[in-house]
Amino acid sequence: MVMARAFVLFLIFVLAGCEEPSEPQPYKPIADSKQMMNWILDPQADVIWGSAGAIITIEGTQDLAPTTQEGWDNVRNAAATIAEVSNVLMMPGHARAGADWIEILQGLQATAVQLIDAAERQDADAVFDLGGQLYNVCVACHQLYVLTDL
Ligand code: HEC
Repeated sequence: MVMARAFVLFLIFVLAGCEEPSEPQPYKPIADSKQMMNWILDPQADVIWGSAGAIITIEGTQDLAPTTQEGWDNVRNAAATIAEVSNVLMMPGHARAGADWIEILQGLQATAVQLIDAAERQDADAVFDLGGQLYNVCVACHQLYVLTDL
């Protein structure tokens, strides 16, 4: 009898343990999904796209590749921001259901990591190619998760 009561108590203890909410996280989402895009991801991507390739007009060709250390640093910093924002978008509060979400963000992060390296090497061709790759990752996610055309 005592044993049985002890077992019941043990069971209640275990069940209560199961129902206990998981540890509260110290972080809290601030920006909603539109703000994450418009305020963080898009401006950083623009820094990279604005630093690669050339603008061709009647007056001539304007090379967009950075010509100063500060210019290359800006590309690297934008790439680093995108690499870390990829982590944030995987977190509860930002992540969306679906296996593809995480996979695409891993692709975004991998591209951003390569961009950091390209900027550190001041490799304009690599930044151009990776900028294209970056664009493809944005589109891949939007095709799956955003119904409206952007
Ligand atoms: C992992 C998925 C994912 C990736 C990667 C992604 N986006 Fe998005 N993006 C979304 C979602 C989801 C929305 C729709 C947000 C909403 O309507 O709440 C969106 C919307 C947007 C919008 C429109 C926001 C508005 O006001 O409606 C822009 C601009 C945008 N993304 C830019 C980008 C750029 C630039 C990249 C790549 C550097 C990118 N996104 C990569 C998921 C993603």
